[in-house]
Amino acid sequence: PKRVRTRHFQNAKREGIKITGLTSYDMLTARIFDEAGIDFLLVGDSAGNNVLGYDTTLPVTVDDLIPLTRAVAGAVRRAFVVADMPFGSYENGPEDALHTAVRFMKETGAHAVKLEGGERSRKQIHRIVQAGIPVMGHIGYTPQSEHGLGGHLIQGRGEGLDQLLADAVAVEDAGAFAVVLEMVPADAAKLVTERIGIPTISVGAGPHTDGQLLVWTDWAGLTTGRIPKFVKQYADLAGILSSAAREWVADVDSGAYPGPEHSYE
Ligand code: KIV
Ligand code: NA
Repeated sequence: PKRVRTRHFQNAKREGIKITGLTSYDMLTARIFDEAGIDFLLVGDSAGNNVLGYDTTLPVTVDDLIPLTRAVAGAVRRAFVVADMPFGSYENGPEDALHTAVRFMKETGAHAVKLEGGERSRKQIHRIVQAGIPVMGHIGYTPQSEHGLGGHLIQGRGEGLDQLLADAVAVEDAGAFAVVLEMVPADAAKLVTERIGIPTISVGAGPHTDGQLLVWTDWAGLTTGRIPKFVKQYADLAGILSSAAREWVADVDSGAYPGPEHSYE
């Protein structure tokens, strides 16, 4: 299959073909999603919640994400792999941001990086893009600034719409090839999508964007506990694994496993 590149994103917006993305944190899911035709895989710092067992993304480090990103990038043949830059790895300025982006590109085989923030991250995005590394922006609700935003709250409502538009324009002007809109009202996302030339990717931003992205563990029902309203669950992996585990315990208990077919002569 022909590799997805940044121009695929641009063409998709122009031709009205929707872009699809899922997070992935390991080789097995990356291979499955790649073969199923998902356009891009984000090795998100949501690995903090979904792999590493943290409550937020704040403690996640570059060193945590490098091996996961390398596993995903090594597994795909077609999908575009985006490395998420964790909290603390770019806020200090453009040179820090470039240093982090270069580490991901050299050490993992990812095809692009993503960082949070519109106007506040414009210099960082510009510096990374200047170095020849594609950048995906991320505006609206930005989990790394949960405490600054005052919680897990919808962005771009009311007076927040002006800030959302300014952030979208800043990300485009800085040279990003696409931008994630997280948890913003559908009509605000529609406005942003019409206003800027780069594709918009919705995660909880309604149907009017150029693409859709979900956290795979939410989408596949592996996450137990609270799932955001915008997630549609396409499987019940937690249920499947739980009954498999119970069945296996019972089989070992009863002697039904292992049978002769599972044993060596
Ligand atoms: O880390 C992540 O999974 C993300 C997406 C939800 C946008 O940044
Ligand atoms: Na993230």
